[in-house]
Amino acid sequence: MSPLNRYEGAGVSESWTLLQSTGCDPVPNRVLVAAMHGPSSHAASWRLTSRVVAECTSEEVTAAIVHCFQGYLVPMRLTSDKYETRFRAENLDPFASRVYYDNGAPAAIVMIARRGWTSRLAAMAIAPDFRGRGLGKEVMRVALEEAVKRKDRSMILEVIEQNQAAVSLYTKLGFQPIRRLVGYELNPDAARERDADYARLREFDPLIVARLIAKEGEPDLPWMLMPETLAASTPPVQALHLDELAYAIVADPSAERIVIRALLVRKEHRKHGWGSRMVRALEAVFAGRPLAVSVLVPENLAPGLFLKAGWQEQTLKQFEMKIEF
Ligand SMILES: CC(C)(COP(=O)(O)OP(=O)(O)OC[C@H]1O[C@@H](n2cnc3c(N)ncnc32)[C@H](O)[C@@H]1OP(=O)(O)O)[C@@H](O)C(=O)NCCC(=O)NCCS
Repeated sequence: MSPLNRYEGAGVSESWTLLQSTGCDPVPNRVLVAAMHGPSSHAASWRLTSRVVAECTSEEVTAAIVHCFQGYLVPMRLTSDKYETRFRAENLDPFASRVYYDNGAPAAIVMIARRGWTSRLAAMAIAPDFRGRGLGKEVMRVALEEAVKRKDRSMILEVIEQNQAAVSLYTKLGFQPIRRLVGYELNPDAARERDADYARLREFDPLIVARLIAKEGEPDLPWMLMPETLAASTPPVQALHLDELAYAIVADPSAERIVIRALLVRKEHRKHGWGSRMVRALEAVFAGRPLAVSVLVPENLAPGLFLKAGWQEQTLKQFEMKIEF
C-alpha cells in the first residue's frame, strides 16, 4: 500500500487519510485510516477497508445496507432478491459503488447508479457507531472524486427533507436542491365507489408502457420515474391500461400496500378526465388495501390529480439535489 491521496479535516476532531493500493488491479481497494486529533485524551485510530460492490455477493451488500441504515426515517427492509431487482432497474454501477468495512463489519455504503454523463447517489449510509465522525463527508468526497475522474458531468440524489443530517452533509459538499418531490396515499377506509371502469382494466407489458412514457411522458422525470428505470420492470410489477388511453404501473398487485409506480394518459387525450378515471379504477381494483404513490413525484406534476380524488400528500417530502462538475 502506498499513499496516493490524503484528505484532512473531514470531522471536527478527526481526520481521515485515504490510502489507495497501487499495482495493476483495475479496481483498487481503498483503505481509510482515521486518526483522532485535537484535545481529546481518548486518541483513537482505525482502518477501514473498502470493496467495490462488484467484488461482493448480493447477500453481503444487502446485509451492509441494512446494517448501515439502522435508525433511518423509513425502515430499510431489503432482501438480496429485492436488492437485485431494485438496483438493476436503477442502473447501479457495481464498480463505482462501495462497501466500507471495519474489521469485517460494515461501516459505510455508497451506492452509485449511472446513466450517460450523470451519476446518481442511489443510497448512502454510515453505520450507527461511525456517524458524526466525518466519515459521511469522507466517503462522499471519494465518490465525487471518482465521478470527476471518470468524466461525469453531474451527480444527483434524493434526500428526505426531514433528514437534517443528510441535507446538511450534501449541502456542505456543494449539492443544491433542484426540486421538491412529493408522494400521495389513500387510506383503506376511504370511501371508494365500485367504479364502472374497473372491469375494463386490462393487463399490458410494462416494457411497452415504459416506451410510451419515453415518447409521451414528461421529459425530465426524476431517476426512479424515468422510462429507463420503468423499462426494467418485471413481474410481480403489473402494468394496466384503460382503453389504451390511460396506463398505470403497479409495483406488486399482491402486496398489502399497493404502490403505483407510474401513470400515463396518451398525449392527445389529456385534460379529459382519463387520469382521474384510471385512479378511480385502481382504487376499485385494490379496494380494502391502502394505496400509495412514492415520494418521487415533482410537486408541480399534476398535483390536483390525487388530491381531488381524496388522496393525501405524504408527510415525508424529498429534495432532489444536484452537483455539477
Ligand atoms: C446522514 C449520514 C450519512 C451522515 O454521515 P456522518 O458520517 O454521520 O456525517 P459526518 O460526520 O461526515 O458529518 C458531515 C456533515 O453532515 C452533517 N451532519 C452529520 N450528522 C449530523 C447531525 N446529527 N445533525 C445535523 N447535521 C449532521 C453536518 O453538516 C456535518 O458537517 P459538520 O461536521 O461540519 O457539522 C449518517 O447520519 C447516516 O448514515 N444516517 C442514516 C442513513 C441516511 O440518512 N443516509 C442518507 C440517505 S439520503
